[in-house]
Amino acid sequence: MRGIPYINRSMIFNMIILVGIVLLVTISTWSYFNIQYQKESAVANIVGEIDRFGNTIKLGTHYAMMLNARDDITSIINNISRQEEIKNIRIYNKEGQIKFSNISHEVDQITNIKADACYICHRLEPPLESISLAERTRIFDSGLGYRNLGIISPIYNEPSCSAASCHYHPDGKVVLGLLDVVVSLENTDKQILTYKHGLIVMAVVSFLGTSTIIGFFLMIFVNRPIKRLIAGTRLIGEGQYDSIVEIDREDEIGQLATAINEMGRQIGEKQQELNRQRDEYQSLFERVPCYITVQDRNLQVLKYNREITRNFEPKPGDYCYRAYKNRQDPCPVCPVANTFETGVAHESEEIVVSKDGTESCWLVRTAPIRSASQEIVAVMEMSLDITQLKHLENEIRRSEEKYHAIFNNIPNPVFVLDQETMEILDCNDSVGPVYGMSQREMVGRTFLDFFEAAERDHYSKQLRIANIFNQIRQIKGDGQAIYVNVRVAPFEYLGRAALLVTTSDITKRLMAEQQLIQASKMATLGEMSAGVAHELNQPLSVIKTASNYLLKKARKKEPIEDRILETMAEEIDSHVDRASKIINHLREFGRKADVKRERVQVNEALSKALEIFRQQLKLREIEVICEFEPDIPLVLADSNRLEQVFINLLINARDAIEERCQEEGSGKTAKLIHLRTSYQGTLVTVEIRDTGSGIPDTILDKVFEPFFTTKKVGQGTGLGLSISYGIVQDYHGIIRVDTKVGEGSNFIVQFPVTGDY
Ligand SMILES: Nc1ncnc2c1ncn2[C@@H]1O[C@H](COP(=O)(O)OP(=O)(O)O)[C@@H](O)[C@H]1O
Ligand SMILES: [Mg+2]
Repeated sequence: MRGIPYINRSMIFNMIILVGIVLLVTISTWSYFNIQYQKESAVANIVGEIDRFGNTIKLGTHYAMMLNARDDITSIINNISRQEEIKNIRIYNKEGQIKFSNISHEVDQITNIKADACYICHRLEPPLESISLAERTRIFDSGLGYRNLGIISPIYNEPSCSAASCHYHPDGKVVLGLLDVVVSLENTDKQILTYKHGLIVMAVVSFLGTSTIIGFFLMIFVNRPIKRLIAGTRLIGEGQYDSIVEIDREDEIGQLATAINEMGRQIGEKQQELNRQRDEYQSLFERVPCYITVQDRNLQVLKYNREITRNFEPKPGDYCYRAYKNRQDPCPVCPVANTFETGVAHESEEIVVSKDGTESCWLVRTAPIRSASQEIVAVMEMSLDITQLKHLENEIRRSEEKYHAIFNNIPNPVFVLDQETMEILDCNDSVGPVYGMSQREMVGRTFLDFFEAAERDHYSKQLRIANIFNQIRQIKGDGQAIYVNVRVAPFEYLGRAALLVTTSDITKRLMAEQQLIQASKMATLGEMSAGVAHELNQPLSVIKTASNYLLKKARKKEPIEDRILETMAEEIDSHVDRASKIINHLREFGRKADVKRERVQVNEALSKALEIFRQQLKLREIEVICEFEPDIPLVLADSNRLEQVFINLLINARDAIEERCQEEGSGKTAKLIHLRTSYQGTLVTVEIRDTGSGIPDTILDKVFEPFFTTKKVGQGTGLGLSISYGIVQDYHGIIRVDTKVGEGSNFIVQFPVTGDY
């Protein structure tokens, strides 16, 4: 079977054939030309020899010819022609008649001078007298199996001949006759043949020898190692990557062996890596904690992973719906069938009822598996039990709904603001009743819209840095003002920095407070009424005295001196001024104060409060010492409110001194109210110190409570300190008391200076 086709395929054989052909052609060509050369040179040698031999005959017979000694000539010719190789020696005369010949019967025969040897000279007329040796030479077949060589040489007329006495040749005759010598080439041809045979044998031997040597070397150095290399590569192909082709050489074959060994090693490594990856993917497929199957068009399961085996133990060729979905028919929505149809991945959620009746929810995903020709040959289905996830999802949804409900039902408005832009990202339902706008209208607007235009910049900064804002004035959707307390907490909302803002509408409470403050003010006014009446009494009595005097004079029709009249008019005028000043002050104090704040000088407010009291304190012999810091900084408050605070504290001081006087008896104690204002750093301090009864420890923590009083019914309302406390706090101030029973009390009120909060 491995005969000719194998030989054709063998590189060595082809090479040998090729080298052989080249050798054969080379040697043959060389031999041919060599033989030709040998032949020609042998003939040339013989021709030279025969020509010289001809000359020798001519010289040998010269004398005999001169003497015309025909017998001598014949005898010389016969003797010479006895030599083996000499076949014929003839001497022709000019007419072509053989005059002498070693063959006796030829003598006197006439040859056609236009034929054979004569033709060379006689082809032209007159015949040529001198021609070259080559032209004189002729080779012809002897008819006996060998060739003959004939050379003719002309016998020229010489002076010795023309002048000879024997027989006379005239001078004008150039050629007297011809000598024709014919020799046999039998030996020469034999030698040439032998030489030819020798050369052919040598060519064949060298062809065979060279081919054999080349073949042998190729066999040893090329064919065998190549066979080993082929065997080695076959082994690599069969997977024996560590098999080594051992060729310990440094030439190309050795390098090829090294390259093949290296290739085998690398393929081995790559194969190992591929195997490792394949095993890894196989184990991934097996171990992945969800159900994976590969199905054909009929939904028959071709492959499945360990999770399927463990839970369902399917039989090979089972239909997917029977194998692990506990159904008798295909699912109504089948992503595998869809994938076969559309060629793309599909996804669905399926409710699977297990044998014990429990329902579980699976997330099913499919992917097509294609052949090399892109045809879908199978579909991989991956099912993940998401029951727990669904459960959690429901829980989350419920929880979200719950928190949403809580968020919406928080009675206070709650806003989610973008920290940068103050845009309202979300808000609850409670914003509607407070701000007069629905939740939908709110979202997308900026929270700063609800501030007065002048305050927006201020709050835009403040909302980002402060957490608590009390009694903020805001503008509702319909333009009405409301008062709110604001709480701000930064947090992250859907991945962005946000502020959670709750506001509580304190408008109503504030109004009630205002009314309470007003009521307490009225009560204070009531308490003050006795003192005020007394205060008004003095100017009234002065006016009364003056009017009585004027009436008396008028009735008596007595004239009044101009000087007296002027003095009286001035007196009445000044006392009317004083009275109206007191009334104005009372009216001013009694008016309903605004919630707004302004820059206030505490010294001024304290002086005004004291003004109303000065007279009655004087009557009660209570001394007032004022120690006011002249350059006191302004505070942010309402002067009317501050006055109310100071009046409350002054009334309390007055009452405490009175009480102490009643207890200890008048004249025993110093009746002193010491008013002092000062500032330290950022705080303005107002102190109202009295030498009254002092506050016992038992009630000290109650004095600021509303409606707490130790005074008799009709004298105290118990609102003075609590309202003062509220007012001071509104202006970010503090109020406290230092007190000692039997020594007196010192009420200290402190406010931050303007711009400090
Ligand atoms: N300067 C003071 N010296 C002693 N006790 C005082 C002083 N100021 C207030 N008190 C006590 O605090 C109580 C509450 O004061 P307040 O709130 O002004 O109500 P009222 O003056 O109507 O009683 C007073 O009844 C009194 O017992
Ligand atoms: Mg009081």
